[in-house]
Amino acid sequence: MSVTSARAHPNIALVKYWGKSDESANIPATPSVSITLSDLVTETTVETAERDSLVMNGEETADTKIQSFLDLMRTQFDVPPLTIVTDNNFPTGAGLASSASGFAALITALNVHCDLSLDRNQTSIWARRGSASAARSIYGGYVSLSGPEWYARQILTAEHWPLTVVIAIVSEGKKAVSSTRGMRISRETSSFYNAWVASSVDDYRNALEAIDARDFDALARIAESSCLKMHGVMLTSYPTLQYWLEPTLACMNAVRNLREEDIDVFFTIDAGPQVKAVCRSEHTRAVVRALESVPGVVRTLTTGLGQGAE
Ligand code: PMV
Repeated sequence: MSVTSARAHPNIALVKYWGKSDESANIPATPSVSITLSDLVTETTVETAERDSLVMNGEETADTKIQSFLDLMRTQFDVPPLTIVTDNNFPTGAGLASSASGFAALITALNVHCDLSLDRNQTSIWARRGSASAARSIYGGYVSLSGPEWYARQILTAEHWPLTVVIAIVSEGKKAVSSTRGMRISRETSSFYNAWVASSVDDYRNALEAIDARDFDALARIAESSCLKMHGVMLTSYPTLQYWLEPTLACMNAVRNLREEDIDVFFTIDAGPQVKAVCRSEHTRAVVRALESVPGVVRTLTTGLGQGAE
């Protein structure tokens, strides 16, 4: 029986998506901009089988998100029962965008394995149905995701502006609240939610301009602001969504201190406690050293910007 393999990299949003305008079609309420990471990778293999099964990081497991995704695909395509084997070389479900690389790799493998003949836009749309941030992992480098089509587009290749990302791992535990549930709670309860959605439009436009101009300071300001506004919405949700741990805050301060020393670096944080510090490549060592000396940082991962799913 034939086996089809695909690989995809996680991406980190610089202008964040948080909230859905249509939960059933998985349409974001905010446009977003991301960078695709080179050294973190998901490798997924699909094989036609008697029944569906999933082996994730070496363990047979059930995943309702993946099963619902396959069920949805089967309403439109002839997708046989499959054995899916998927491996991440980085912590899974810990706010490192494993669902983004996971769904991007899965749809890329399915497209070939099941002869779906999806073009890149359609592949990105299907990845979005699995996990909206996955739409962006179809592409490498700098990527945008906006309406009305809600498929991702590449803004700039990784080679055109090769920044580095240093990830401070603060906890390898799985996140307590899924992003879908968290977004629903935020929409229903945070009094900042509407202002957040409204302000994302300017952040998105300004980030595209900053990337086009390779303006690091402008991008740093927009990205930290978008991150802090998203966490402001999370923190003012009820029940509160507090993804930060104490070392998360200490890393944010370390990044600010580095900037005082003229190191070009900014932070961003997703639905988890890890801090991603984006810097110019020549400043990587200073950033790694500073983050590794923060109490509570378990280890750091350093990566450049990478390619799209293949
Ligand atoms: O695609 P999801 O459902 O994993 O949501 C991703 C949400 C954030 O990572 C917090 C922000 C983003 O734009 O990636």
